[in-house]
Amino acid sequence: MVVRSLKLFSVEKFPAIAKALLAQFLGLLLLAITVVLLAQFVEPPFADSLLLALQVIYAALFTTLFVMPRWWYLIQIVLPPSLYFALSSGVNPLLALGLFILLILVFKNAVFERVPLYLSNQTTRRALVQIAEEYHLQRFIDLGCGNGSNVRFMAEQAKIQESVGVETAPIPLLLAKLRVFGGHGTVLAQNLWKTDLASYDFVYAFLSPQPMPELWSKAVREMPANSVLVSNSFAVPDIEPSEVWQLSDRRKTKLYIYKMSETQRSKTSC
Ligand SMILES: C[S@@+](CC[C@H](N)C(=O)[O-])C[C@H]1O[C@@H](n2cnc3c(N)ncnc32)[C@H](O)[C@@H]1O
Repeated sequence: MVVRSLKLFSVEKFPAIAKALLAQFLGLLLLAITVVLLAQFVEPPFADSLLLALQVIYAALFTTLFVMPRWWYLIQIVLPPSLYFALSSGVNPLLALGLFILLILVFKNAVFERVPLYLSNQTTRRALVQIAEEYHLQRFIDLGCGNGSNVRFMAEQAKIQESVGVETAPIPLLLAKLRVFGGHGTVLAQNLWKTDLASYDFVYAFLSPQPMPELWSKAVREMPANSVLVSNSFAVPDIEPSEVWQLSDRRKTKLYIYKMSETQRSKTSC
């Protein structure tokens, strides 16, 4: 029952960063309860290392209950000891500023576009290849391509003629450019809202619930008939997808597939 209600936090409306902070906060709460209970049997104070270890374990536990992507565990495990050592060693506040700038360079769009950075997994990439085959698609674009893994993977498929990604967060953009270096796809430093979709028949987006209505309007305006929009995890509100693929990965990824047809376009414009 507790597990089921906690799983409510995995609803996609919660940005990952909020879930991560909540996991740390609930971990801290559990730690406080543990300390109070433990004090009945063992004389405090308790070793800092024990408290840190418990905080990390509890935060990881809540991260699991919130069904967060695997790489968030790294952040959740590293955060408490980093904060502890920073506070106890009287570290220069400029370092904190530097860290903050680094975070903005990576997660810029979480703040400005309400689209956090999390990455498609290999199971999803294999499903994208299957979708391309089933719908006979050849020109792929990843809107907000993160580290460029999808762009490179699709570029390496024999039947894909063109594989492009656009990205605006500086560090993911740099990583994506490096990943496709040498002709394994194309990555552009470009805002997805300023990217013309007319020349792509396979548009992939893994964004957040917030931009989906606007993305749909853009797709309807620009995408050619018989092209396909695939949204990872986030459905377009009030629009019936042509298909939904549920994948067999840990997070049971859902791919919402929208085949753009004249009928669909006219239904939307009514
Ligand atoms: C959830 S991640 C998905 C990354 C990648 N598509 C994948 O599936 O692995 C969303 C990405 O979209 C980028 N993004 C968000 N808004 C954007 C915008 N307006 N223009 C370009 N990229 C954007 C973010 O920086 C982030 O890298």
